[in-house]
Amino acid sequence: MQFTGTHILSIGQFESQDVERLFEVADRMEPYTKREKRTRVLDGAILGNLFFEPSTRTRVSFGCAFNLLGGHVRETTDIKASAISKGESLYDTARVISGYSDIIAMRHPVAGSVEEFSRASRVPVINAGDGPSEHPSQALLDLYTIRKELKITGPVENLRIAMVGDLKYGRTVHSLSKLLSLYRNIHFTLVSPKELSMPGEIVDQLLAAGHTVCQTDNMQQGLQNNDTVYLTRIQEERFANQQEADIYRGRFRLNQSIYTQHCKPNTVIMHPLPRDSRAEANELDNDLNQHPSLAIFRQTDNGVLIRMALFALTLGVAEEVEKHTEEVHWYTDKRFRKLPPMTGDQ
Ligand code: NCD
Repeated sequence: MQFTGTHILSIGQFESQDVERLFEVADRMEPYTKREKRTRVLDGAILGNLFFEPSTRTRVSFGCAFNLLGGHVRETTDIKASAISKGESLYDTARVISGYSDIIAMRHPVAGSVEEFSRASRVPVINAGDGPSEHPSQALLDLYTIRKELKITGPVENLRIAMVGDLKYGRTVHSLSKLLSLYRNIHFTLVSPKELSMPGEIVDQLLAAGHTVCQTDNMQQGLQNNDTVYLTRIQEERFANQQEADIYRGRFRLNQSIYTQHCKPNTVIMHPLPRDSRAEANELDNDLNQHPSLAIFRQTDNGVLIRMALFALTLGVAEEVEKHTEEVHWYTDKRFRKLPPMTGDQ
């Protein structure tokens, strides 16, 4: 794909060579995220960061990624505080905000809304999550993490992955499945309550691409013999009422003892976060916090690299980044040392 000037709306736009190109640029961003160097390649550029749904890491990491390239961030975070609450259409909002920005990252609760918005935008738009539909930058950072954790240097092959939880409404697993389907011989184990299973069209797409898919509501079985286990939160905001979400909360949990009993040693543990740490849910227990295979915070760190690469490519400066490099003058030493154990950890 020609990245420059292109909206990034869906994983369907990517071919495997585009992913390789993106990952190669992401690798080059590491000195900047580690604060070994800084770059001003996007000095003067403005990111319109529009988040019409709750977000912590996606919103902040898009913003930080843009800042780390030297650009400025303008943020709108609350649908009630924006003119959309006065009845403004996505078309009008897009016309306006794209006049103020060089690029836009947008999250919205309605499937297809970011694509609709992009049609009226005069600058590239990156989908940061459109309802239950897609979350392409998350899938890219997830695959990047899988490769790093499993020390795979090229395209993944023969990967065994279990996806667990709310596979019906979880946009991260939708995008990640579509992304993995570009590769060869992936074995998917899809663990969910029957009512929250992966949409049929995505399963069909995986099968048509020659992958194997096992669907089950038995977590213990599903955890066996994987390279990676990818847990998800029950997407309570997508249910008609909370009582319905309560039925499923806490049904599938991973903790130290379940991991030791049922997972192959060194199975990589992933979660897009936020994990629901309330006692009634707790799909990924704190007792795994010190486990070396827990990749969740390496996933979030990798998100900045991937988003920097997406900005650099869509704004056509991927080869200019190093030319605008400077020294870092402030104290940075401690940030990248191993984190001390969290209070209450085993
Ligand atoms: C996810 C999302 O918003 O889809 N979070 C994220 O972006 N990292 C997952 C979730 O909210 O459960």
